[in-house]
Amino acid sequence: MKNKLDKYERVKHLPNVTFSVFGESSSPRSYPWHLERYAGMQKVLELGCGKGEYSLAFAAANPHKLCVGIDCKSHRICVGAEKAIAGGLDNVHFLRARIERIGDFFVGHSIHEIWLTFPDPHPKNRAVKCRLSTASFLNAYADLLMPGGTVYLKTDSNLLYDYTRKSVEGWGGRVVAASDNIDGSDFGALGACGVVSAYEEAARSRGTTIKYMAFKLI
Ligand SMILES: C[S@@+](CC[C@H](N)C(=O)[O-])C[C@H]1O[C@@H](n2cnc3c(N)ncnc32)[C@H](O)[C@@H]1O
Repeated sequence: MKNKLDKYERVKHLPNVTFSVFGESSSPRSYPWHLERYAGMQKVLELGCGKGEYSLAFAAANPHKLCVGIDCKSHRICVGAEKAIAGGLDNVHFLRARIERIGDFFVGHSIHEIWLTFPDPHPKNRAVKCRLSTASFLNAYADLLMPGGTVYLKTDSNLLYDYTRKSVEGWGGRVVAASDNIDGSDFGALGACGVVSAYEEAARSRGTTIKYMAFKLI
């Protein structure tokens, strides 16, 4: 517990973290990812980034892209942000915020890729609205993505995988790639597909197959 509290305090002072107070936000243009020095860079979001393993790997592999990892748990993003500083990675930033409010922090149609990396599947019917591929979230992603931008999902949940396909198609989007077992597919080398977070490692060690989907909304 003390460790968590320490991180909660530390994270507020890290130069690569935007710590939003829930319910408060400024103009989207005031946030660091819209600074002039990032103007020519493609922007990638990881939603529910946890300790930021994927964001760190994206940033290291794509020095000309700017990655922003978003999570509501500050002690988790503290881990990723401190690793980025230690490794000298200056093209990754972390935002402590609720994904429900993502539209408050980014200018419309400014994002190239959105990654949903092992989002909580929220299996109970009453929690369907919390799934990150439900229509209200798809609306928000469509508002943020540049024309031709892509949303990627990596999950160990069959329920979320099937739900996402139905939700995207019902919304009017297009699934452009999908596999219910990433290890037997050609998608292994794409973006975050080659990165294995601690969460993914735990799913793999239980013998669960990892599923992958890419979809377009605009
Ligand atoms: C299962 S973990 C996956 C973490 C990481 N992407 C990985 O693959 O290891 C889901 C993460 O999403 C975050 N999360 C869940 N709902 C959220 C919300 N509404 N807003 C912000 N973060 C959320 C949790 O705090 C957690 O870190």
